Amino acid sequence: MQNPQNLLSRFVANLLRKKNPDEFLEQSAAGGLKKSLNAFDLIILGISAIIGAGIFVMIGSAVIGTTERVGAGPALVISIVLVAIACIFPALCYAEFASMIPVSGSAYIYTFATMGEFPAWMMGWVLMLEYAIGTIAVASSWTGYLIKLFEGFPALPEALKNPPVWLINDYNSAVTANPDASIPHFLGMPFCINLPAMIIITIIGLILLKGIQESANFAKIMVFVKVAVIALFIGVGAFYVRPENWTPFAPFGVKGILMGAFAIFYAYIGFDAISTAAEETKNPQKNLPIGLIGSLLICSLIYGLVTIVLTGMIPMSQIDLKAPIAAAMSFIGQDWFAGAIAIGALAGLTSVLLVLQFGTTRILYAMARDGFLPPIMKKVHPKFQTPWVITVISTILILIGSLFINMQVAAELAIFGTFTSFVIVCIGIILLRKTEPNRPRPFKVPCCPWFPIIGIVFCSGLMIVALREVKTSAMLFPLWLVLGVVIYFMYGYQSNRKQVALKLQHVEESNSEDKVLR
Ligand code: ALA
Repeated sequence: MQNPQNLLSRFVANLLRKKNPDEFLEQSAAGGLKKSLNAFDLIILGISAIIGAGIFVMIGSAVIGTTERVGAGPALVISIVLVAIACIFPALCYAEFASMIPVSGSAYIYTFATMGEFPAWMMGWVLMLEYAIGTIAVASSWTGYLIKLFEGFPALPEALKNPPVWLINDYNSAVTANPDASIPHFLGMPFCINLPAMIIITIIGLILLKGIQESANFAKIMVFVKVAVIALFIGVGAFYVRPENWTPFAPFGVKGILMGAFAIFYAYIGFDAISTAAEETKNPQKNLPIGLIGSLLICSLIYGLVTIVLTGMIPMSQIDLKAPIAAAMSFIGQDWFAGAIAIGALAGLTSVLLVLQFGTTRILYAMARDGFLPPIMKKVHPKFQTPWVITVISTILILIGSLFINMQVAAELAIFGTFTSFVIVCIGIILLRKTEPNRPRPFKVPCCPWFPIIGIVFCSGLMIVALREVKTSAMLFPLWLVLGVVIYFMYGYQSNRKQVALKLQHVEESNSEDKVLR
């Protein structure tokens, strides 16, 4: 019988089993992707992933707050600077990792290489908050802007401009936020679906099934449209700014600014997607940091200007929560611009959905390949060459989630997930500098370990402040983590042991064949 101490140390060693970065590099070399992206391409990729629901929708609640948290008021512009700083340090860490291990799979892969099996699974699981649950927030925002667009066409039927509450909301928003609305019942339960959100999630799922290549140009056009529309908002709105709207500047003081930073952080989610293109980047040591930091700075500038104009155009109490940017245009009597903004917002939200749903499937695929999920999930479609099983399953799960989770809670969960992944990536950089100091690093975070430490302090600080304020998501976030632990021990742990044993057997067999041949 094994002694308990041995068992325990074997168990811990299993949990912390690392995958050598070279294994990932070998896998990716076998793929042989062409290195064609330059810094400008990376910035476009970043903007396509970054600008979406955050600036088109969440900005409303970041300024005025929700029932659970206070808002920043016009001082949101300070929150934006804080968030930009909080993101720059993890972004540098992403650049170092991505140039060192240039494979898709992002933070999940980096954690496997630096901290081991169990932390990697938890990282992948947490990334699902950012990508899969984040999708729900963006898709709900999509509904808001679709209705806004319909409102811009007086000739359209009333049912489109003013649909019933139960057809454009998740269960919680419809029943809790609209207790008086007449909602049909099915098997004794109130029946509510966010139909437009479900349709767009399904369409993107189908596009991903077929392969994203054809949509690359479409994605570029969408980036152009959304940036043009935001420029239009800033350009036109600036003429309607009334400085008295900026007073009081910070109605809820420092707490408001910090909670505003937490909420607007959603607008920054997605820049890490740039790191997944490392494998296809020319001169990654130069272009990756430029792409990451460049897109962060450009988006921060855009966000700052939108905030200044929006809060200057209308009194804080009049800011709309569902489609604040378009509604601000309607407020100043520019309905035509409101319609144009709705189109731009829909384009922007669609491009973000594409990135988030794509990321969901690719991270889950990488996890399935490593044995964390049942083998059927790593099946690749013979014709389209896409991971079709994982795409279908994840799309269905996201659709189910969209029936129950409301936009604010989904966005907050995505924020918690992203903060956690940023903190782990910063820790990973410090660890890998110690464990593998000689590994070639085409790009190195300057002033290590201080820059990663600043990233850790900013991200975990904001997360801790928010956890004390937002009740629903602060309760769901730990539940999500516990669920991840349970799934790992019920499936992933055993399955990884089998996979490792098979690999060992394979190595032993080829060693003995070598001996016989010699
Ligand atoms: N940053 C992305 C958005 O705002 C997720 O929609």
